[in-house]
Amino acid sequence: MINYQTPIGIIGAGSVGKTLALAMLNKGYITNSTASRTFESAKSLARLVPGCVAYPELQSAADNAEIIFVTTSDDAIGQIASKIRWRKGQTVIHCSGAASLDVLEPVRQYGAVPGAFHPCQTFSSVSEAVESLPGSTFAIEGDGDTRATLEHLATALGGNPIFLRPEHKPLYHGTVVMAGGILNTLLGAIADSWEREFKIPRNDALKALTPITKGTAISLSSKGLPTAAAGPHVRGDVGTIKKHIQSISLQAPELLPAYCSMLLAGLGIAAEKEVAPEEKITEIREMLIEASDGRLP
Ligand SMILES: NC(=O)c1ccc[n+]([C@@H]2O[C@H](COP(=O)([O-])OP(=O)(O)OC[C@H]3O[C@@H](n4cnc5c(N)ncnc54)[C@H](OP(=O)(O)O)[C@@H]3O)[C@@H](O)[C@H]2O)c1
Repeated sequence: MINYQTPIGIIGAGSVGKTLALAMLNKGYITNSTASRTFESAKSLARLVPGCVAYPELQSAADNAEIIFVTTSDDAIGQIASKIRWRKGQTVIHCSGAASLDVLEPVRQYGAVPGAFHPCQTFSSVSEAVESLPGSTFAIEGDGDTRATLEHLATALGGNPIFLRPEHKPLYHGTVVMAGGILNTLLGAIADSWEREFKIPRNDALKALTPITKGTAISLSSKGLPTAAAGPHVRGDVGTIKKHIQSISLQAPELLPAYCSMLLAGLGIAAEKEVAPEEKITEIREMLIEASDGRLP
């Protein structure tokens, strides 16, 4: 079980490695060793965390810690698990949302124990990521002590632990990407259409879209569904949706498939909210299916 004296190592000094090291430092945990593909990255992590030593070799970082986070790109986790000579009793944790524990299988031959700890959060800048960790969900895999250690750590970082089985990981990660990376892409594509059509620079458009995006997330979290469902499909505004399809197909056709598929997916919840009459929901559904097939209203 982890305590404030347990030496922690980080292999892979990128966004997640640095964020975890800083967040754990803020809560009193000791990251004492790090290494990365390049010594420069390891040194940049060590500079952030007093008492942390950067090593040019991955093996040295592993040798000096009891709990080692392998926060490299997903593809490198398996190679690192095989390459290092682990020690009995060490805990080796990866932070991938898609990979399961099998990628760390080689550590078991040394008597080390694998675990997975996926922060359900976007890590682009380290300082913003450290601030956004409290309240985040951490998806955990591991047995016995490892599970307890990671549950304890998630809670200490202000997060909410959830426990996943290996067969859940691909769906878990695919859906998390929809809430993060794909939402990011959608907002980017909307901002590009504003730049093209309204001459509002992309980054100004993104700033303009941020309050509604935040407001939607806050409302979903505080009120839940179907109460938080909103939009013309919820009100049954057939005419408004017709105008949307016509204008999007002409001025931003790249957004039409997303508009139609997401609105179609939302009709079940719109019906649950019982604001729009059933026949309006049916009319909207038919119009959206036709528009998806290229038959515009
Ligand atoms: N970014 C996110 O939003 C996010 C969220 C949750 C979980 N994750 C997971 O967290 C992990 C790390 O992601 P990240 O975003 O922090 O990636 P990242 O910023 O690209 O950092 C990865 C680090 O791994 C190092 N690395 C790559 N190959 C290596 C190797 N063969 N040996 C040693 N070090 C190696 C790189 O080293 P150098 O700098 O030295 O080249 C880099 O610093 C991934 O498993 C990812 O799926 C990411």
